[in-house]
Amino acid sequence: MAQEIDWAGLQARATELMERAYAPYSGYPVGVAGLVDDGRVVGGCNVENAGYGVALCAECGMVSELIATGGGRLVAVSCVNHAGATIMPCGRCRQLIWEHGGADCLLATPEGVLPMSQVLPQAFGPEDLLA
Ligand code: THU
Repeated sequence: MAQEIDWAGLQARATELMERAYAPYSGYPVGVAGLVDDGRVVGGCNVENAGYGVALCAECGMVSELIATGGGRLVAVSCVNHAGATIMPCGRCRQLIWEHGGADCLLATPEGVLPMSQVLPQAFGPEDLLA
């Protein structure tokens, strides 16, 4: 659906969530906010664990909220660091965003707003399982 994207609002929400991160091991809190195609905003923060590899990225929380609150498609995502500055989601989290936003989902990046098709080219996705 066509809608205005309030990038500053998304970044502000991501920054609020970053402030709730549980990142005692890396000292690198992350927050993320995503606009859903029905106008909802979902988000998350990273949650680390004494078993370091068990850490949940902020995007995991965002996707969980997306599904738990009714699903839908992500249309725009903003991810921030401790300073509230835009960062790139890690590779695994790009895959999470791809699953729920697809090629046209827009991502705020340090180089400007880019579609997922540019930040995860030739992505593996649900349609590959049908081929
Ligand atoms: N992190 C995220 O939450 N999302 C990303 O896309 C990149 C990395 C977290 C994981 C870990 O808790 C910390 O940042 C340092 O890697």
